[in-house]
Amino acid sequence: MDKQFKRTTVTAALPYANGPVHIGHMAGVYIPADIYVRYLRLKKEEVLFIGGSDEHGVPITIRAKKEGVTPQDVVDKFHSIIKKSFIDFGISYDFYGRTTSKTHHDTASEFFRQLYDKGEFIEQVSEQYYDEKAETFLADRYITGECPHCHAEGAYGDQCEKCGTSLSPTDLIHPKSTISGAEPVMKETKHWYLPLDQHEAWLKQWILNDHKEWRPNVYGQCKSWLDMGLHPRAVSRDLNWGIPVPVEGAEGKVLYVWFDAPIGYISNTKELLPNDWEKWWKNEDTRLLHFIGKDNIVFHCIVFPAMLKAEGSYILPDNVPSNEFLNLEGDKISTSRNWAVWLHEYLEDFPGKQDVLRYVLTANAPETKDNDFTWKDFQARNNNELVAVYGNFVNRALVLTDKYFNGKVPSCGELTDHDKEIIESFREVKVRLEDLLNHFKFREAQKEAMNLARIGNKYLADTEPWKLAKTDMERVGTILNISLQLVANLAIAFEPFLPQSSNKLRDMLSIEAYDWNDLGRSNLLTPGHQLNKSELLFDKIEDEAIQAQLDRLERIKLENEELNYKANPIKSDVSFDEFVKMDLRVGTVLECTKVPKADKLLQFKIEDGLETRTIVSGIAKFYKPEELVGKQVCFIANLPPRKLKGIVSEGMILSAENSDGSLSLVSPISEVKPGSQIG
Ligand code: 2FM
Ligand code: ZN
Repeated sequence: MDKQFKRTTVTAALPYANGPVHIGHMAGVYIPADIYVRYLRLKKEEVLFIGGSDEHGVPITIRAKKEGVTPQDVVDKFHSIIKKSFIDFGISYDFYGRTTSKTHHDTASEFFRQLYDKGEFIEQVSEQYYDEKAETFLADRYITGECPHCHAEGAYGDQCEKCGTSLSPTDLIHPKSTISGAEPVMKETKHWYLPLDQHEAWLKQWILNDHKEWRPNVYGQCKSWLDMGLHPRAVSRDLNWGIPVPVEGAEGKVLYVWFDAPIGYISNTKELLPNDWEKWWKNEDTRLLHFIGKDNIVFHCIVFPAMLKAEGSYILPDNVPSNEFLNLEGDKISTSRNWAVWLHEYLEDFPGKQDVLRYVLTANAPETKDNDFTWKDFQARNNNELVAVYGNFVNRALVLTDKYFNGKVPSCGELTDHDKEIIESFREVKVRLEDLLNHFKFREAQKEAMNLARIGNKYLADTEPWKLAKTDMERVGTILNISLQLVANLAIAFEPFLPQSSNKLRDMLSIEAYDWNDLGRSNLLTPGHQLNKSELLFDKIEDEAIQAQLDRLERIKLENEELNYKANPIKSDVSFDEFVKMDLRVGTVLECTKVPKADKLLQFKIEDGLETRTIVSGIAKFYKPEELVGKQVCFIANLPPRKLKGIVSEGMILSAENSDGSLSLVSPISEVKPGSQIG
């Protein structure tokens, strides 16, 4: 029951503007979306490709806080970096906007207001953690504490990063606000909820019955959500970064980032087409497609459609082609562990090779299951496929034409059965390619395009025109004519996948334009047509370049292991009674001198409130004795005295060990009376 549509609106998930884009994002979302859009454009279909940066949400505020800048500074910086990467890699948006734009604020605000006025929300008061010192409610990520499962310190209110368990802030043992350090208290707050339970019936019908053709991973995830039963979802948050909730009594509250972000697709369309945007969102003959990663499925298949339906005048997505995840060298890509290939860095190391990455990411696209990117595979696919098959065929066809026909397309003489078979086989490729692209099977589709180059290579190898040059120039002309037609077909077939190379090829062939319907034709180049000078489409990637990437990853792995090692060993529990037995105090350094014949040791005289005590500490490598005089340090006062290099040390000064082994003395933030107890 394929519906006929007049036009297609394609959206690609709005990346968070709190970091650059990596290969996982590209393989999962942006390359597939771009391939599809380029394919439709080549077919001369009416299509609009919309994207933008997602600039709200708590992680952005956390990054800003860490860096001592404003959230706006953070999103300004990453919006530009991300946008540039997309341009560099040929992601051909019609418009790439941002959710901090005025148009978006107005659109999202109005959208909320409309649903509010129609009574589509429920208001609910609940208790949430509040920081009394900072006078603010705390987002889950702003609360840390001990994980109730693995007992690691520093687990977040939504997840423990150590053991991976999803948490609620109230699960944390000894919760702490990361803003002020205070222990948060529970306080009542009002929020607006989208009652997804009330949308369950139609969602079930619409997805489970009407969209059985969705990818199994998408369909399966939706089914499991729907089978579990839907619940109301809060669409507002207590936060000061975002779009203010546009109703009275909502001071200090903003729209939840997942409420405003998908509306970003609409506002960005509006920004591009202020007078003509509605037909892309409200006409029944428009087909809406969302390209996303698998962590976004529920929002695009359930929550956003429920919002659109509640509003009432919008179309719903016809398909949501979502990919699984791409791993890097067998490990999950992770921004915080820097386990990623960042696009802007890739281009520094492999300038001009954006198509190579596009090719490899599509060849390994995680369409049905998680997949792996490895540098060895990257090199092999470049050298054995792009260079040895595609590039080699194109080069041979052009160089031979130059050699025997001065770069002019030769005429085609009588065709042998073999020639006819070749011509027929590239017609068939068109049919197969279309079928695969129509069903979002991009990796198979790209394989088909490469097949065309394989056919060409084999044809030249079988017919060996260079051997016929002395005896039968007419036959040489026919073979090269067919080969050149194949080359022109390759430029079209690869255009959605490798736009930069197709452009280059089009220049070499000296053709102005082509469209998808030309694919499969054997008369794209007329005899006598003068070709331009040829150059190599791809070049070999040497082992050293790959080794440099592997070395970089190895360094990152070591750094991560070192960090983990330093952070890891949480000692076994001590009882409270044992803990209070330790007499921890602050003292003021009265004198500090080097211990003769011991390069690590410093001898301290510490004013501890009662007397002056001597402590020897192994900190000499990191401080000059004179700079410590007058400083306050922390020490254990009730360790039994110990003799070090003949000096009796009456305690131990506390220091923190950095991951590189350097030591930093621990000191109170503000001065206290010498002898003050710690605890
Ligand atoms: O997961 C993400 O990166 C989100 N920023 C995607 C948002 S998609 C859409 F809703 F805008
Ligand atoms: Zn844990």
